Amino acid sequence: MFFRMDQLLLSFSLGLDFVEGEIFGATTNHGKRVAVLTAAMGQLAGWNDDQVITAAACALLHDNALSEASIERVPGAKVTAAALAAHCTEGEKNAAHLPFPSEMKDIILYHHEYMDGSGPFGMNAENTPLGAQFIAIADNLDIRYKIQSQPASALSQLREEIKRKRGVYYTADAADALLEILDENLLISLTDERIGQSYAQAIPQWKVEIQTEAMMGIAEVAARIIDYKSKFTAKHSTQIANRAFWMCRFYGFDPQTCTKVYLAAALHDLGKLMTPTAILEKPGRLTDEEFEIIKQHVHWSYIMLKDVEGLAEICRWAVSHHRKLTGSGYPDLPAEYLELDFVSRLLTCIDIYQAVRETRPYHPGRSHSETMRILWDMANRGEIDKQITQDLDSEMARFPDGDGDVPNPAEQDAFI
Ligand SMILES: [Fe+2]
Ligand SMILES: [Fe+2]
Ligand SMILES: [Fe+2]
Ligand SMILES: [Fe+2]
Repeated sequence: MFFRMDQLLLSFSLGLDFVEGEIFGATTNHGKRVAVLTAAMGQLAGWNDDQVITAAACALLHDNALSEASIERVPGAKVTAAALAAHCTEGEKNAAHLPFPSEMKDIILYHHEYMDGSGPFGMNAENTPLGAQFIAIADNLDIRYKIQSQPASALSQLREEIKRKRGVYYTADAADALLEILDENLLISLTDERIGQSYAQAIPQWKVEIQTEAMMGIAEVAARIIDYKSKFTAKHSTQIANRAFWMCRFYGFDPQTCTKVYLAAALHDLGKLMTPTAILEKPGRLTDEEFEIIKQHVHWSYIMLKDVEGLAEICRWAVSHHRKLTGSGYPDLPAEYLELDFVSRLLTCIDIYQAVRETRPYHPGRSHSETMRILWDMANRGEIDKQITQDLDSEMARFPDGDGDVPNPAEQDAFI
């Protein structure tokens, strides 16, 4: 049994484009364009399929930690040098958890290094990996020149710009590679209409076996990327995944099911990448319109996960977490998603539990017993599963310290 990792990363990239759009003004499909350009330069350099898959994945994820680095940023202000360095360091650390088919160290770490020394680490061409040089030039070109909307007549001007910056801003190797591949056909292949197809044609499929080790790493990274979005939800997905894994073991599920539920829990709020941070962090009451926008995160999670080959069950578990047994909750999902199986009901309870325990702009974090009072009210109204509520009440009480956080799966044995 496998799933298509490249398709999952394309979905992450859709969300990360939105984040980068909020911060740098990057546009839709930015990650895909950087990936297609990086892969084309890599193919020119003689990379094999596994190297192309790896570099393209890193290109899709180049800014996976951008919102983390910008959490303390005043909206509209520039990203500080320290924040720029932090998103490179954190982004590289995250990517290290992914089961890439080829080893390409430090290419996310150094994706902002330019030859005028303006990069956060002041690197030069000799000590910057080629993959990082390719991502840097593709990223910069796309953000600066909005290449998806450049007509063929702009080609010579673009090429002049690259030549002018060769060796002084872009590395000579990266500039030469880009100049060699950048023609009218490539430019057309980067438009919003064509880019999906161009990506599929240029980059081989990446399939990952649904087996414990790789899946756990993917889930951890996914949760972190989603949680970066707002300081109020800085550990929301991670904690839901940890709590879900704990409960799956409590119920005696087999290891593969525990892992699948862990991934579903990690992904449950993937669509929040598309929710404007200003709404997520608005102090005080949300308007009806703003609440509607928040609710759309479920729809986005569905859009982002539904077509990932091999993740159908995980998608269904992930996106039904606001649905109540009474039929209320966020609608707008296909009928088969509205049948709430045991795992879906479990994730609904855990999502509510975690959200109530967290400090949010509109409420302080609550203790275990205060939280359980709210869950019991809902259970007694028939909205959530009574038995799961009971089990959650007794199991989560085993973590009484501080915020009641549950350790990650690797450390859970110590608590049994
Ligand atoms: Fe970046
Ligand atoms: Fe970028
Ligand atoms: Fe949610
Ligand atoms: Fe949630």
